[in-house]
Amino acid sequence: MTRNDSQQGQNPQLTTRQGHPVHDNQNSRTIGSRGPMTLENYQFIEKLSHFDRERVPERVVHARGAGAHGVFRATGKVGDEPISRYTRAKLFQEEGKETPVFVRFSTVGHGTHSPETLRDPRGFAVKFYTEDGNWDMVGNNLKVFFIRDALKFPDLIHSQKPSPTTNIQSQERIFDFFAGTPEAMHMITLLYSPWGIPATYRHMQGSGVNTYKWYNAQGEGVLVKYHWEPKQGIRNLTQDEADRIQATNFNHASQDLHDAIERGDYPEWDLYVQIMEDHDHPELDFDPLDDTKVWPTDQFPFRHVGTMTLNRNPENVFAETEQACFGTGVLVDGLDFSDDKMLQGRTFSYSDTQRYRVGSNYLQLPINRPKCQVASNQRDGQMAYYVDTFDGQDARVNYEPSVLSGPKEAPREHNPHTPYVEGKLVREAIERANNFGQAGQQYREFADWERDELINNLSGALAGVDSRIQQKMLEYFYACDEDYGRRVEESIQAKESQLQEVAPAPYGRETSSKQGPDIKQS
Ligand code: HEM
Repeated sequence: MTRNDSQQGQNPQLTTRQGHPVHDNQNSRTIGSRGPMTLENYQFIEKLSHFDRERVPERVVHARGAGAHGVFRATGKVGDEPISRYTRAKLFQEEGKETPVFVRFSTVGHGTHSPETLRDPRGFAVKFYTEDGNWDMVGNNLKVFFIRDALKFPDLIHSQKPSPTTNIQSQERIFDFFAGTPEAMHMITLLYSPWGIPATYRHMQGSGVNTYKWYNAQGEGVLVKYHWEPKQGIRNLTQDEADRIQATNFNHASQDLHDAIERGDYPEWDLYVQIMEDHDHPELDFDPLDDTKVWPTDQFPFRHVGTMTLNRNPENVFAETEQACFGTGVLVDGLDFSDDKMLQGRTFSYSDTQRYRVGSNYLQLPINRPKCQVASNQRDGQMAYYVDTFDGQDARVNYEPSVLSGPKEAPREHNPHTPYVEGKLVREAIERANNFGQAGQQYREFADWERDELINNLSGALAGVDSRIQQKMLEYFYACDEDYGRRVEESIQAKESQLQEVAPAPYGRETSSKQGPDIKQS
């Protein structure tokens, strides 16, 4: 991607970006060898000023990530049924059909070079370059989320980010927000268990989390949830194990992914879907559009639809991984949004931030550009470096309709999916909130060591925080499960009795040596 093929195998002459040869890349132009420098120093100023601009704003969330290229192979079926019964999306139709993909895994809360051992959800974003244009599935490793209304997202993230006064992440701020957000209990129960620190990116699941839709050739829709299952198995870390890894390597997950692909040990994930009829399902004790819930697999089984293999590392992390732009609005024919209001809120945010973070022409970058013909009349703007035209187009025509030239509308869609929507415009919470049921069930289903870890991690986070926050959180833990509440409460008490109000010991060891030679003044 970054190499000029004609220059492979030989070392080309170093030039400036203007193509001028660089004769000396070690010494600036100065008056005499000791300086001063002069202002007309074009080569120096171009080099330094470009360096000064090397960073684009990092992602406001999911800043630390690792990417890889690969391929998705369809089974042509949903479990045992032909997939065409549910979706007409072309990438899924035939058994063995291959679609190129780019995947970016990430951590959420901290900056671009933060440790990969932190307790944090992990992003799992996949870009499918289909013949019908791109499809992005922007998911996480955990199958549920903290909130169910996108309006709350900036508050959630502010509470998780370092404090504005100390620049230090604070459990008191995090749980202050959660104490007013009972819908987060399911996600909290997973996040503070070992599931909150996946061992590597290769050993974690992925999930679309939000509810989407599929529709078939007749325009009939169903509700769909997506799940990636790693063929490598699932591995998570205890807090101690994570601490030990972090002490020697804070890039271990990027390294694990990169090295596995380099040695030809290509990681693979099977893609499964769960399908539900498209209505509000009053028989369930949760709302199918609520992203704080999983759909029980006994009623809505996982059905295999394909497999993804990652087989190529990026050549340039900035050009590919950093500038990759994923969004929940990026769907193809046969795939659709559900009424999930959180999903719709997310869909505004992605392309909005990408226009700011990468620039208004981010879709012209090779990593984001669809691999099919693009013929829009969108023009100009910062960093536009080509015009979407097709062979034979009259370049004067950058509008539609036109009898002269230009791209024409695609034929009318056969049987579009046209759900009927009506209702009062309101600000209201959903009815079947059921904030604690699945969290309690998850608590009971953990293995003993996972439950022990959960209690220890939660009480470690909550010991010493404001007692009003503790009380509210304990109320929630008890509501999930009596044993859950009791154990967190006892563990907080035990930890608080050991907290001591003494000044911490200083870091490090005092030195007796000096820097530099011992200069004797005469
Ligand atoms: C990244 C917004 C919820 C998964 C981002 C970014 C924003 C954002 C602004 C940065 C994108 C960029 O700079 O390119 C939101 C909002 C949410 C929300 C407003 C809730 C209302 C979620 C949920 C998931 C998720 C529920 C998981 C299903 C991701 C992933 C990325 C991301 C994986 C990183 C994509 C990449 O690797 O570039 N989100 N998000 N987000 N979000 Fe969300």
